[in-house]
Amino acid sequence: MITCALYTEDESVEHWQMEFNRQFPHLNVQNWQHINNPEQVKYGIVWKPNEDFFERFPNLTTLFNLGAGVDAILKNAAVPKHIDIYRIEDGGMAAQMNQYFSYFLLHYFRDMDYYQQQQSLNHWQVQPFKAASNFRVGILGLGQLGAKLAQHLQCYGFDVAGWSRNTKHLNGVTCYAGAQQLEPFLNRTDALCCLLPLTPDTLGILNHKNLSKLPNGAVVINAGRGEHLMAYDLIQLLDENHLRGAVLDVYQQEPLPVAHPLWQHPRVMMTPHSSAQSEYEPCVKSIGNTLQAIANNQAPSGLVDRSQGY
Ligand code: GLV
Repeated sequence: MITCALYTEDESVEHWQMEFNRQFPHLNVQNWQHINNPEQVKYGIVWKPNEDFFERFPNLTTLFNLGAGVDAILKNAAVPKHIDIYRIEDGGMAAQMNQYFSYFLLHYFRDMDYYQQQQSLNHWQVQPFKAASNFRVGILGLGQLGAKLAQHLQCYGFDVAGWSRNTKHLNGVTCYAGAQQLEPFLNRTDALCCLLPLTPDTLGILNHKNLSKLPNGAVVINAGRGEHLMAYDLIQLLDENHLRGAVLDVYQQEPLPVAHPLWQHPRVMMTPHSSAQSEYEPCVKSIGNTLQAIANNQAPSGLVDRSQGY
C-alpha cells in the first residue's frame, strides 16, 4: 500500500483524508504527524509545509501541492531540490475563477460603478450603450485557469485577448506572447485580468510603467498573487483618473494590514483571497490519478518546471 503524508491547515486535514479514502481506498493518506515509519514515505500531499515536515520525511520523491500556485513551495528553502512537485491544474478552481471574473467584468461593462455613484447622489441618468464586442478584455496568463477564462468570456461577446510567456493558440482569442508583445497587449486592453503564476519574471508586472500603457479608463482585476501588483502605483493611477477601478483578491501581505490605503479606496473592490478555492473532490481525483500514473511509470501533466518557476 502506498503511504502519503498529508500536511495542510488543521481544520481541513480530516476532509482531505476522508475524500482520499472514498476515492482511492488503496492509498494510505495519513496526517503527517501520525505516520510511524516516516523514512519509508515517498509521497507528500501538502499546502505550505514547514521545515519539520521535510526533516521528518527524508526520503520523499514527490510532492503534490494542494493548490494552483507553487510560488510558496518553490521559495521554501527546506524543500529538497531533487523532489518532483506537481500542482493542481484545475481542482474546481477554473469554474470559480470564471464566476469571479465574469461578476466583476459585468459590473464594469454594465456601468454598475457609475450607477452606484449616481444612486448615492439621487441622480437619474442612463449611461451610453456600449456593444460587448467593443469591451476589450485582456487576460495575463493563459495557463490552466487563464485559458479556460478566455474561452468562457466569449459567451458575453467580449473582445478577448490573452498574453503569455510562450505563444499559445486559443479559438476566438487574440494571443500575444513574450516581453515584446506586452505593450501592444496592454494598449488594447480595457479590462486587465491577472491570472499569472508568480515567478521572478512576473514579480511586480502590474507596475506604474505597465499599468500606464492601459487605455484611459481601464480597469484591473488581480487574482494572481499580491506580489504581481505595485499597490501604490495602482493607487496613483486611480487617483489621477488614468484607471477607472480595480478589483483585488490577493495582496503582498495577507491579511492586508488594516491601515493599508487600499481598504478605504473608493474605487477599489476587495475580496480576501477567496476568488477560487481547491475543491476536495476534483483535487483528490487529480492527485490520485497523477499518483497512479507515476506508479505506472507514465509522465502525467502538472509537473512543475523549477527553471520556469511554475
Ligand atoms: C491559491 O491561491 C492557489 O494557488 O491555489
